Amino acid sequence: MPINNYYNLGKTGLKVSRLALGTMTFGKEWGWGNSREESQQIFNQYLDLGGNFIDTADMYTGGTSERYIGEFMKERKNREEIVLSTKFTFNTAEGHKINAGGNGRKNIKRSVEDSLRRLKTDYIDLYIMHCWDKVTPVEEVMRSLDDLVREGKILHAGLSNVPAWYASRAQSLAQHRGYEPICTFQLEYSLIQRAIENEYIDLGQITGAGIMAWSPLGGGLLSGKYKPGIEGQKDVEGRLKKITDDGGEVSSKDNERNWGIVKALHEVSHQIDQPMASTAINWVANQSNVGSVIIGATKMSQLESNMKALDFEIPLPLMEVLNKASDFDKVYPYTFFQSNIQQRIIKEAELADKPAHYHKQQRV
Ligand SMILES: NC(=O)c1ccc[n+]([C@@H]2O[C@H](COP(=O)([O-])OP(=O)(O)OC[C@H]3O[C@@H](n4cnc5c(N)ncnc54)[C@H](OP(=O)(O)O)[C@@H]3O)[C@@H](O)[C@H]2O)c1
Repeated sequence: MPINNYYNLGKTGLKVSRLALGTMTFGKEWGWGNSREESQQIFNQYLDLGGNFIDTADMYTGGTSERYIGEFMKERKNREEIVLSTKFTFNTAEGHKINAGGNGRKNIKRSVEDSLRRLKTDYIDLYIMHCWDKVTPVEEVMRSLDDLVREGKILHAGLSNVPAWYASRAQSLAQHRGYEPICTFQLEYSLIQRAIENEYIDLGQITGAGIMAWSPLGGGLLSGKYKPGIEGQKDVEGRLKKITDDGGEVSSKDNERNWGIVKALHEVSHQIDQPMASTAINWVANQSNVGSVIIGATKMSQLESNMKALDFEIPLPLMEVLNKASDFDKVYPYTFFQSNIQQRIIKEAELADKPAHYHKQQRV
């Protein structure tokens, strides 16, 4: 399916491309990003290829990512064509002011004004809480986001990196207090990170929020640079090398399960004659309730290749190979529901699905 097939994000009327452009790499401040010129080429090429969904955050590259996007939109005069998503939570104010971080109303107000200024726009299509701060009540966050919708500063709201109970509570508050509901959960999702399948797929379906999947290549591990047989190799150029050299978190990705996944991905990609990165992105995009996959690219060749990731289908038996290799240990209470729980509860034959013209029975 070509990139210029758009999906409605969650239950909104907002139409987004199934591949969003991640811009965490716009700017060199973090050591593995792109110059302004390279970033602009990637931005323009993504739009020329049919994408319309740009993801950034106030803290990416210290504000440079938002600044570049604002400038690029101005130069291209295309603000209206773009679905612009940005995030708040982290302290991006000069001088570490105490209320300039977190999800309190005061910081949300400061953050949105700063983002609007850097992005050179008067509204944000999708405003996402970047991370649970573990202290601010969800009531304060939801009311503050709803106020911003009413003020016209943001059109829709999302949550990223929050526990499912928190997201569920946010949606209940929205429903019962008449706030703008959350239309997307932006979460890490890839062949190497499938933990969100425990709760978020069902939660999103039930509450009308689509998943925006981040790091579909596990930050580069599934990009094709790493091949089976070179396990543990870290001298491949790119972000993972830089992070590893700096003593960062990549070591947690260097484990037997992940190398098994890289091996299976390599074999499947070879069989369907596709780049490993494309196969990995395609797998994520075709999981239940995924609204959009945020692709990252530090080179034009990577972008152009990744943008073709939806142009083919992975045959079912090969999907199974990937599913099996990337299977993960379920934790309690999900283990409790695994084996035929309905039969144990009602002691009758399994419930049947409703006829096709009804909605599918939800068994959660
Ligand atoms: N909400 C959140 O907390 C959160 C967190 C992380 C990311 N995000 C969003 O998600 C976006 C994507 O995340 P990500 O960059 O981590 O995604 P990713 O797809 O897991 O990794 C992308 C990186 O892999 C390498 N790569 C990509 N395509 C390749 C190809 N075809 N061949 C070889 N290497 C390739 C590039 O890095 P190198 O060339 O440097 O190796 C690229 O920067 C971000 O830009 C951001 O917008 C959100």
